[in-house]
Amino acid sequence: MSVLITNIGELVTNDPALGEGPLGIVRDAAIVVGDRVEWVGPAKSAPAADERLDAAGAAALPGFVDSHSHLVFAGDRAAEFAARMSGEPYTGGGIRTTVAATRAATDDQLRANVARLVGEGLRQGTTTIEIKSGYGLSTADEARSLRIAAEFSDEVTYLGAHVKPADGPEDYVSLVNGEMLTACAPYARWVDVFCERGAFDVEESRSVLKAGIAAGLRPRIHANQLTMGGGVRLAVELDCASADHCTHLSDADVDALANSDTVATLLPGAEFSTRAPYPDARRLLDAGATVALATDCNPGSSYTSSMPFCVAVAVREMGMSPGEAVWAATAGGARALRRPDLGRLSVGAAADLQLLDAPSHLHLAYRPAVPLTRLVVRRGAFHWPWGTHRSSPTVSSHLEQPHKGVLS
Ligand code: NIG
Ligand code: FE
Repeated sequence: MSVLITNIGELVTNDPALGEGPLGIVRDAAIVVGDRVEWVGPAKSAPAADERLDAAGAAALPGFVDSHSHLVFAGDRAAEFAARMSGEPYTGGGIRTTVAATRAATDDQLRANVARLVGEGLRQGTTTIEIKSGYGLSTADEARSLRIAAEFSDEVTYLGAHVKPADGPEDYVSLVNGEMLTACAPYARWVDVFCERGAFDVEESRSVLKAGIAAGLRPRIHANQLTMGGGVRLAVELDCASADHCTHLSDADVDALANSDTVATLLPGAEFSTRAPYPDARRLLDAGATVALATDCNPGSSYTSSMPFCVAVAVREMGMSPGEAVWAATAGGARALRRPDLGRLSVGAAADLQLLDAPSHLHLAYRPAVPLTRLVVRRGAFHWPWGTHRSSPTVSSHLEQPHKGVLS
C-alpha cells in the first residue's frame, strides 16, 4: 500500500539536491511512502496513491536515528542521580550495580524493559535505535542481552568490554575476545569498548576492537568521555564508524576526526545527568568533523529516550544551530551507523518519518520538552503517539486505526 502525505508546510529531506540548504527543505511538499520512500516533491505535482493524508501545513522530517543506547538492563539508579545533583562525581562505577540487577532479571523482564524504552523513543520520533549489551559481562549474560536486543533492532552492539566485572577472570580481555565474542558475534553487527581510565586502556581497547573485527563485527567506541585519553585517535586508526561522547578533546583529536570517516557522536543526556561540561559541537563542526546526536539511554549516566531533548540541549548548550542539531539527530545518526538508507527522505530511502504539531523543525529546540510528535512512520507502518483525535493532520480512511504494534 502507498500513502500520499500532502500539504506538508516544511519537509526536511536531508537531501540538498531536493531542496534548500543542507537540510534539503521543500516547502508545500508531499511525499509518497510504501515500504520505502516512493516520491518526494512539491504537493502540486504529487502523484496519486492508495491512501491520502493531509498534513494541514505541519512540518515533517526523517525519523530520528538514535545511534547509541544501552537498553538491555534491569534496576534503577535514581539515588545515584540524586547524589550527583548534590555534588557527587560520576565515575562509571555504578555500571556494576546494573550488572547485578540485569543478571538477576528474567528474559521477559529484560524484554519488557527494552520494549518500554523503544516505545518511548518511537513516540518521540525515533525510528532506528542502536542497542548495546554491556550489563551482562559474562558469556551467557552478554549473549542473552544481545539476543533480546536483536528482537528490537538490526543495529546491535557487543559491549562485553563495558567495565571489568567484580567476579570476572584476571584476564577479562581474553574472555571478551575469546569465548564471549564467539557466543555474541552471531547476534551483533557492531563491537564497542569503553576506552576510559578505570575501564579499558587504549591497548586493551585496540585488542577488543580488533578481535571483534576479525569475527566480522564493525567497530565503534566510547571515547574521551571522562578524560582526554587516546580513544578518539584509536577510533580513527581503526576506522570506527563512530567515536561516542567526545567530551574531552585535544586539538589533535578534533583534527583526526575532521580528517576521517569517523563520526563524532555527542550524547548530551550524559553530560546533563552527570553534571559534566557539555562537548563542544561547534569546535568539531568548524573543523569539518561529522557530528551525530544520540541519547545514550541507560539507567546510570543518561536515563532519557528523548531525541528532541538532545536536540534542544545541543542547540542551547553545545553551539549547534537548530538545523545542525536536527541533521545530527537524523542523517548524522545514519552516518554513525553507516546506513545510507536512513536519515534522509529521498526516493529509495527507508519510509521513516515524523510529522510535528509545528510549522517547522526549529520548534524542536524552540519548544523544549513539548511533545510535538503527532505521527511517526517507521518502515512504512503508521504510529499515532497521541491518537488521531489529537492530531492536527486530517486523516483519511483506515489510516485512522491506531497501529497495532509497539504502541498498542
Ligand atoms: O555511555 N560510559 C560508559 N557507559 C555508559 C554509562 C553506563 C552506566 O553508567 O551505567 C555511557 O555513559
Ligand atoms: Fe554509552
